[in-house]
Amino acid sequence: MVPWGALNHLYKGLATIVIALIALQYLFGSVLENRRTTDTAESLIAQYNRYRNHNISKPRFYQGAPISIEKTNNNSILISTILNYNKSQATNNNSSNLTQFNENPSAIPNCPIVSPDLEGPIQVNKTISKINELEAQFGSWLQPGGAYAPTNCVSQSVVAVIVPYRDRAENLLLFLAHMHPFLKKQQLDYAIYIIEQDGTGPFNRAMLMNVGFTEALKHRQYQCFIFHDVDLLPEDDRNLYNCPEQPRHMSVAVDIFKYRLPYQTLFGGVCALTRDQFISVNGFSNMFWGWGGEDDDMSNRVIYHNYHISRYPVNIARYTMLTHHKQKANPKRYETLVEGKKRYSQDGLNSLKYTLKQTKFNLLYTWVLVELHAPS
Ligand code: BGC
Repeated sequence: MVPWGALNHLYKGLATIVIALIALQYLFGSVLENRRTTDTAESLIAQYNRYRNHNISKPRFYQGAPISIEKTNNNSILISTILNYNKSQATNNNSSNLTQFNENPSAIPNCPIVSPDLEGPIQVNKTISKINELEAQFGSWLQPGGAYAPTNCVSQSVVAVIVPYRDRAENLLLFLAHMHPFLKKQQLDYAIYIIEQDGTGPFNRAMLMNVGFTEALKHRQYQCFIFHDVDLLPEDDRNLYNCPEQPRHMSVAVDIFKYRLPYQTLFGGVCALTRDQFISVNGFSNMFWGWGGEDDDMSNRVIYHNYHISRYPVNIARYTMLTHHKQKANPKRYETLVEGKKRYSQDGLNSLKYTLKQTKFNLLYTWVLVELHAPS
């Protein structure tokens, strides 16, 4: 018979071993977990740097910052940004241009509302550069997707610039050449989205805006949206591309209109709405095929929903319009506009139908190619 004292020792010994094993598993488990995260981050950064050096396929990004993509227990995919990634902490270690994580992002101050880099009136250069020349010119600070964020302060505005597009290659080059330095000077955290309508059917500018809004929100929680024609270039950098309390009509004074607002309710060309404002008016109507009327419908939506249109003064909100072939005007635009009010709640973001053909994070812009479907 084993004496009770010996049994007691045996139990105590076993319990100690079990506790020690649990502690070891806990310790090594967390070390391994950290290692795994670091490895993922490092490999993504290596991919990022290789991509920036132009010789490999595109890495995975979340608006410029590398992302990790993992399978979760229930077999869904978890996409997470690598937190603490911040270009401001990037160090060039001579040969490898390795980017490091910012250990303490809160140390970076907020950017002032009005950037100290503003100049006021600026030149509009109409000399066309090739895409690779622009990439070389902006490549040291732009991130894939046509994205930028200040490196020495945290921007007050996270902005998506949504540009409806088809068949305006020269306008697009001038637009990109002008807008990137313009937006950077305003210390915005932004990305440019070019939303291209596939096919040759009538153009639907408003629907492309709705697509841009929807697709951009899949990439990032933008709070501010600037809906922007590709042929309009701002002439003064005090025209801030942020979202004030009320929806803002931005292209107030356009050269071809002799720098005068054609009519008080005009909301076309360039306008800014917060995410919440855009959702509350149900986005743009999807019913305007061909030129005209869709911006007037948006203006009516804004007013109907008890907002008012805000504007900068004419000496600041000045734009140059680039030349291009005129689109065919929509003969039904007036009747569609007049009936608009009946449809605000059923025609817009909630009735949007499209097929996403492609999304590409080019260095100068996020390209979204879509086929639009008329709402049933
Ligand atoms: C059209 C608008 C256009 C405005 C200025 C109006 O007649 O309906 O779509 O923005 O003219 O050109």
